[in-house]
Amino acid sequence: MLQVPVRDQSQASTKAVILVGGPSRGTRFRPLSLDVPKPLFEVAGHPIIHHCLKAVTKVPDVREVILVGYYDESVFRDFIKDASKEYPQLRIVYLREYTALGTAGGLYHFRDAILKGKPERLLVLNADVCCSFPLGEMMKLFEEKDAEAVILGTRVSNETATNFGCIVSDSHTKRVLHYVEKPESHISNLINCGVYLFATECIFPAIRSAIKRRTTRPRLLSYPSSDNLESSFIATGDDEDAEKSEVLRLEQDILSDLADSNRFFVHETKDFWRQIKTAGSAVPANALYLQKAFQAESSELIAPSATIVPPVYIHPTASVDPTAKLGPNVSIGPRVVIGAGARVKDSIVLEDAEIRHDACVMHSIIGWSSRVGAWARVEGTPIPVGSHSTSIVKQGIKVQSITILGKECGVGDEVRVQNCVCLPYKELKRDVANEVIM
Ligand code: GDD
Repeated sequence: MLQVPVRDQSQASTKAVILVGGPSRGTRFRPLSLDVPKPLFEVAGHPIIHHCLKAVTKVPDVREVILVGYYDESVFRDFIKDASKEYPQLRIVYLREYTALGTAGGLYHFRDAILKGKPERLLVLNADVCCSFPLGEMMKLFEEKDAEAVILGTRVSNETATNFGCIVSDSHTKRVLHYVEKPESHISNLINCGVYLFATECIFPAIRSAIKRRTTRPRLLSYPSSDNLESSFIATGDDEDAEKSEVLRLEQDILSDLADSNRFFVHETKDFWRQIKTAGSAVPANALYLQKAFQAESSELIAPSATIVPPVYIHPTASVDPTAKLGPNVSIGPRVVIGAGARVKDSIVLEDAEIRHDACVMHSIIGWSSRVGAWARVEGTPIPVGSHSTSIVKQGIKVQSITILGKECGVGDEVRVQNCVCLPYKELKRDVANEVIM
């Protein structure tokens, strides 16, 4: 157990912000995001943001968590109601940006609400990452180094590193020497996990300086977001909108400048870390969170048996025939029905879906109220361990490795569906492979 220094416990306080984005993001999460906002999609039996929130609840001095995004106000209402009951010690609120303000623009826009109660530290979490959130270790490093900022980093392969923010650091002092968001060529394989701890007295002045700099030195701001969000593209300097816009990105506008200070440090995690961008990436995230729950001997999981290969989560309202074999890495949602002799592996089966007898589902997501017929096969291709991509090349075509059935799809008896993404309400009556079914 990590010990946070006493000064920290008694005097300092920490607030947390979870950046949830908005409906114009998460397009790569289609077809699932057509029916549920990505942060509320369930992996390992809980919404993606619940995993972030749970991690934050383990930091002793956090009393308030602010979800910042530009979804409609109503989107997180039920989630906040349920989470507030589960974590009564926390005040959980949602603050809505009037438009996409960027990862730092939202923080700055709501600075008064964030700074209320004078927190000394601010935790900022991207909602679309899956990891063990070693926030205690980050806090410890922050205190030890008297830091202005600590970023969570992880090592990835040299080939994938440029898809992320890249960190050059001093391995002895852990100081961040240089930060470049999605560089064009290789600079480091230590990448930004999208989890930060800031001293509030530093981060807001840093954002203010970035705004000032932009007003005095307007420039082309084409933000390399992996979602290629058009609304975060600001035209050239003499464009009035650019100067008026509050769109600011932590990664491009703030972090590289913080690296010039001597008080920006990186905590490198050796534990699991993945982004949740494509719909298929929910499958490895589901597996990693289930494995973590299994290691922690979570009572939410089903005990191993002849037909349960752990880890497996089954919602209490689901009905699973005792002869069906499930696991590993399977989540079964509310009111799902699984018939006799069915086989489900490395998959997520969503609310009200039905998998009829002797069907086989592997490396797939079965959408809400979808039906998989008797003796049917719905399957994707296993993602190599440690891979940060969910696409593969099959017969010269780039396809998703995970098969996804959207809401209310039907797969006929004995039909085989392989490496397909199927939009909602489709009926599959013949075998299909490597297709997007629209
Ligand atoms: N509130 C709010 N407002 N949230 C936003 C906005 C915005 O305008 N734009 C993005 N977000 C949220 C997204 O929902 C996501 O949780 C997070 O901020 C980052 O999203 P992107 O801007 O799409 O960045 P990215 O995922 O391509 O890259 C970021 O994350 C990587 C780790 O997953 C960068 O921080 C990379 O450096 C990092 O490696």
